[in-house]
Amino acid sequence: MSTGSPRVLPADRGIAEAAAVLRAGGLVAFPTETVYGLGANALDAEAAARIFAAKARPSFDPLISHLADAADLPGLVGPVPPAVAALAERFWPGPLTLIVDRPAAIPPIVTSGLDTMAVRVPDEPSARALIAAAGVPVAAPSANRFGQLSPTRAEHVVAGLGDAVEVVLDGGPTRCGIESTIVDARGARPVVLRLGALPVEALIEAVGPVEVRQGSSGQPVAPGTLAAHYAPRTPLRLGAADGDGGRRGFLAFRERPAAGDWAAVEVLSREGDLTVAAARLFDALHRLDAAGVTEIVAEPVPEVGVGRAINDRLRRAAATWH
Ligand code: TXA
Ligand code: MG
Repeated sequence: MSTGSPRVLPADRGIAEAAAVLRAGGLVAFPTETVYGLGANALDAEAAARIFAAKARPSFDPLISHLADAADLPGLVGPVPPAVAALAERFWPGPLTLIVDRPAAIPPIVTSGLDTMAVRVPDEPSARALIAAAGVPVAAPSANRFGQLSPTRAEHVVAGLGDAVEVVLDGGPTRCGIESTIVDARGARPVVLRLGALPVEALIEAVGPVEVRQGSSGQPVAPGTLAAHYAPRTPLRLGAADGDGGRRGFLAFRERPAAGDWAAVEVLSREGDLTVAAARLFDALHRLDAAGVTEIVAEPVPEVGVGRAINDRLRRAAATWH
């Protein structure tokens, strides 16, 4: 574990310096609209290897490459299937990751040896400015240690990765709060490989029926969608606020538990707004994790829209503690 600290720079003013670090093969954590990413030059195998080392990420879990602009996609990968192009056109910049064939320019370590690659254009101006200034595609997983809570603030990155990252661009809390939706639209019917910030309903409205084929620990579809993931250090269980809270913490959707004297409570959205709840999810879990409770009980949210992705994260966090 590292004990030093990275250089934390404001996202708007630190871009030139951060881009220079990327070009030199170093690691930069930066905000996207979903979560903070841990970026490296996606054309540089050694730089990509540093990501796996910094995160203690297994080599079988491929990275997402980020572009500054949708117009940069053909230059990197050549022509893409019409359905892929249509989704990029409709949802980029935005929280949608698309699967394309891996071009020769992307070293196999980035895709964990797969002949496909994941790519997206983030909807966060500083992220796009950083990628444009670096002048290369930027491979970036979420900027947390493997399996742990995703970072939605620069402070989460610093606490989790320490000086394993050279520079952290601080752009404040991220807007969406959960990761991008991953879609493989190369075949006859688009397949959702990971539920995320772009609701399945929005995909269906744009392209018609989609298949949701989520991974489990046995046979992950997106290799990183393991059954156990996104976990706090404190054991987490899905359920209602039954019994006495005691030294336990409660993650509520809309309302604090009426009774039970819980040691710590986080409410995701008093208005019952799932978008707000998603934006607060990981921040609330980070706080409950730091509250010194013996267990976190998390209330599932309605299984609709981005609520499906929230429940997915909670189920995987809970699976870690089975
Ligand atoms: O919102 C996001 O997607 C964030 C920000 C930083 O862009 N990134 C992110 O990366 O969540 P990460 O590494 O935490 O998750 C990437 C997921 C993993 O589940 C991985 O298995 C999957 O993408 N993936 C990457 N390449 C793939 C491929 N060629 N085929 C299928 N799944 C792939
Ligand atoms: Mg991740």
